[in-house]
Amino acid sequence: MLITIVTERELRELVQLDAGALEVVAAGFTDLVSRDVALPPIMHINVADQGGEVDVKSAYVAGAPRFAIKVAGGFWENPRRFGIPSSSSQMIVLSASTGYCEAILLDNGYLTDVRTALAGALVARHLAPPQLDAVGQIGAGAQGRFQMRALQLVRPYRRVLVYDRDEARLEAYVAEMPAVLGVEVVRASGPEEVVRTCDLVTTSTPSQQPYIRAEWLRPGQHLTAMGADAPHKQELFPDVLARADVIVCDRRSQCAQLGELHHALEAGLISESAVIPELGEVIAGRHPGRQSPEQITVADLTGVGVQDTAISLLAYDRAASRGLGVQFDPRG
Ligand SMILES: NC(=O)c1ccc[n+]([C@@H]2O[C@H](COP(=O)([O-])OP(=O)(O)OC[C@H]3O[C@@H](n4cnc5c(N)ncnc54)[C@H](O)[C@@H]3O)[C@@H](O)[C@H]2O)c1
Repeated sequence: MLITIVTERELRELVQLDAGALEVVAAGFTDLVSRDVALPPIMHINVADQGGEVDVKSAYVAGAPRFAIKVAGGFWENPRRFGIPSSSSQMIVLSASTGYCEAILLDNGYLTDVRTALAGALVARHLAPPQLDAVGQIGAGAQGRFQMRALQLVRPYRRVLVYDRDEARLEAYVAEMPAVLGVEVVRASGPEEVVRTCDLVTTSTPSQQPYIRAEWLRPGQHLTAMGADAPHKQELFPDVLARADVIVCDRRSQCAQLGELHHALEAGLISESAVIPELGEVIAGRHPGRQSPEQITVADLTGVGVQDTAISLLAYDRAASRGLGVQFDPRG
């Protein structure tokens, strides 16, 4: 059987932050709560001496013709040491009927960036206040860019307040993003100014120390924390979750191990029996999401294999229909 190899350049052409891709990721989340899905635990390889990590994620939705396995690296010193992005990855698409590899998507982290930003947009669609003036972005890296772009699919906003502890990255963001987003982009003095000013805040840093404090939050605000996707990472002090009226997880069991929920449970500030819906339940209308303008809402995103399978199969189908990619006979 031939294997199709699709390059990053082709994948960037095939899959973008658009309404079609948003609905594909939404369907992945609703599948997770309404269909039979094989979702193995994430395999995490800690390359600690190099400041790196590799995660392997996958999901198979029963009845689907294919599924994907993602191998994703996060090497946080890459930008400083080598001048290359911290995140990398490739997706392997397997046939659900034979188990054979049908395609390798050499996306270099691009598809992960897209599916992650679309999860942030889906959260905003269901939890953010209806009108946004200033929105906040903490972490001026890859996700800091993708999240603010994807948010525009579901909510217009007037300006972005951004903070990053790395001065050069902050400067680069403020220089580049006004033209990309078409709104004013202003640098903030720190996380406190971002949280105190903005209606919606996204945090996307690999921080290992919490830096968002509960006392900065105000009624009506929404916060999406997506940087913590491993037990040693944390962006929110645990009482932020205790202060929230609604907490939504992409996958509750995963957030309890890897996300902000993990730290709040450990601190005893959230009980094991607390009602915490999953994003798929909110999208499917089984949980109402935001119910009043005064509620404080918080989303904890750790990244789920169904997102990877959903975005990979979208890329695979589009590549097949447009005849993109190079076909390769693995037998040589
Ligand atoms: N939840 C998910 O599905 C998902 C998906 C992709 C990435 N991630 C995680 O999101 C995080 C960011 O990913 P990225 O690709 O944008 O990385 P990146 O390296 O491109 O950007 C991270 C930025 O955060 C800044 N930063 C680090 N610590 C900070 C702090 N304490 N305060 C302010 N700024 C700080 C860095 O200077 C950098 O600019 C990582 O932890 C990554 O593992 C999660």
